[in-house]
Amino acid sequence: MPYHVHFNGEKVVPIDEKQTILQASLAAGIPHYHACGGKGECTTCRVLVLQGQEQLTPPTSYERAIKNVKKFPDNVRLACQSFVQGEGVEVRRLIRDETDRYIFIDSNEESTKTVMGERRKLALFFIDIRSFTPFIESNLPFDVIHIMRRIFALFQNAITQYGGEIIDTAGDGLYAVYGLNSSIKKATEAAVLTGLKILADLRIFNNTYMRPYFNHTFEVGIGVHVGKVIVGNVGIGLSNNLTVMGFPVNIAARLQACTKELNNSFVISAIAYRLLRNPPYAVSCSYLNLKGVSNAYEVMLIGKPYENNAEKPLPDTRLS
Ligand code: FES
Repeated sequence: MPYHVHFNGEKVVPIDEKQTILQASLAAGIPHYHACGGKGECTTCRVLVLQGQEQLTPPTSYERAIKNVKKFPDNVRLACQSFVQGEGVEVRRLIRDETDRYIFIDSNEESTKTVMGERRKLALFFIDIRSFTPFIESNLPFDVIHIMRRIFALFQNAITQYGGEIIDTAGDGLYAVYGLNSSIKKATEAAVLTGLKILADLRIFNNTYMRPYFNHTFEVGIGVHVGKVIVGNVGIGLSNNLTVMGFPVNIAARLQACTKELNNSFVISAIAYRLLRNPPYAVSCSYLNLKGVSNAYEVMLIGKPYENNAEKPLPDTRLS
């Protein structure tokens, strides 16, 4: 009895019980990659099963072997090894053109989850150095780079100590995530401990190095939030870095940015704060109006007021 397979974004094709998904798609004129000729050896035919996974035959021994090595998620199947036993199957070909082939095949050393992306709940940590421009203007380029490296090493040590992963650096700041290999509660605690360690280490660095040698001190702004984000890899060839995307990332960046206006070096969302087993003392809470969020966002201030803060805190802490 013929069934149908819906190839997402392409067409619905008829398939009978003796045909593999690959045979059915080729018969229907879909240019389905099958580099090994359907022997279950190359993985170029693989599809993401969007619906009807239960209607597919169990993975063959070839498929199990290859999935073991490549660590494909359960909803990725080899079209040349999969038969359909009922209606309602919808799949998406993962390799549709030469560019896809380049991305998926030439990056076969990477984790498939990383290449395909996955949704994860992570703790998001943003930090930025304050008052760096005046330092740049009054010091030699060598000193600027040297001090920048010292401070970034200080950030990196703390982040690594607490199991964070640096995702990106930009200008005089960076952003890291926690929870790739731990629960969200542990991840949030780790992000907060990182921030507190950096504040303590920076105080020592200012007192023992910056003040005596440069007559200058640095301060930082830290923002922490938690949320569901997409973890994946958009690097092609040049950079294969992990990328983390999603609205919670924008919120965490916004929390970091508002440390200046709130005149507090460490701002954490109340959602993240409530996940902490031993939350640090919060001097106060505040409400922010964030773009794209209908209700004001509750945040906790767990850092210190800035010593060099030239700007007075806003009279109304609701920011637009
Ligand atoms: S065509 Fe090679 S594994 Fe399916």
